[in-house]
Amino acid sequence: MAPRTIPSSSPPLRLRPPKAADYAALGTWVQDADTCLRWAGPKLKFPFNPRQLPQLLEEPGAHSFVLSRGPGEALGFCQFWVREAGVAHLARIILAPAARGQGLASTLCALLMAQATKTAGAQAFTLRVYRDNHPALAVYEGLGFVTVPEQSNESVFSMRKPAPAARPEA
Ligand SMILES: CC(C)(COP(=O)(O)OP(=O)(O)OC[C@H]1O[C@@H](n2cnc3c(N)ncnc32)[C@H](O)[C@@H]1OP(=O)(O)O)[C@@H](O)C(=O)NCCC(=O)NCCS
Repeated sequence: MAPRTIPSSSPPLRLRPPKAADYAALGTWVQDADTCLRWAGPKLKFPFNPRQLPQLLEEPGAHSFVLSRGPGEALGFCQFWVREAGVAHLARIILAPAARGQGLASTLCALLMAQATKTAGAQAFTLRVYRDNHPALAVYEGLGFVTVPEQSNESVFSMRKPAPAARPEA
């Protein structure tokens, strides 16, 4: 099936806070234990009750968002939290299966980083990704994330996008 494309007249993609219906939709995107592990890490046990996702996905200081063009649409989900001043950790990044293969993952990550910069002053970003998650890796590398070898292990890459270099004063 040819990938769906978004008409240019559509409202812009944005991040908004998740509602109960979004968590129900999110539950349908994660259909097996392997996807669950790659998406949310080992703390979230599969199967889960989608209604409990707000609690199950809680992390200290976590902010959760849905990628959407309007209140009734959920195209993706993501979180960030700050544990180190100026550095936001991006997590639980996922697109609805029907929204994949269209470049929306880069848009979601860019919007998430902009949100973290606006609300938490983040300049640098970190994330963790399974080494064999090739689409996710391609997205993160395309956005300027690089592997941090000393914080990676045999199954997971730790990645970091450094703060932009300060411009020399004129
Ligand atoms: C990870 C995810 C958000 C990526 O979104 P996506 O729409 O599937 O990604 P795309 O199809 O746009 O692919 C991204 C890139 O990877 C490339 N790619 C896809 N499959 C690939 C593969 N098997 N090997 C190598 N590259 C691959 C694509 O060509 C594309 O590169 P390009 O931007 O240079 O064209 C999505 O697959 C998802 O929700 N996965 C389940 C949850 C998950 O794993 N989250 C990641 C947590 S770290």
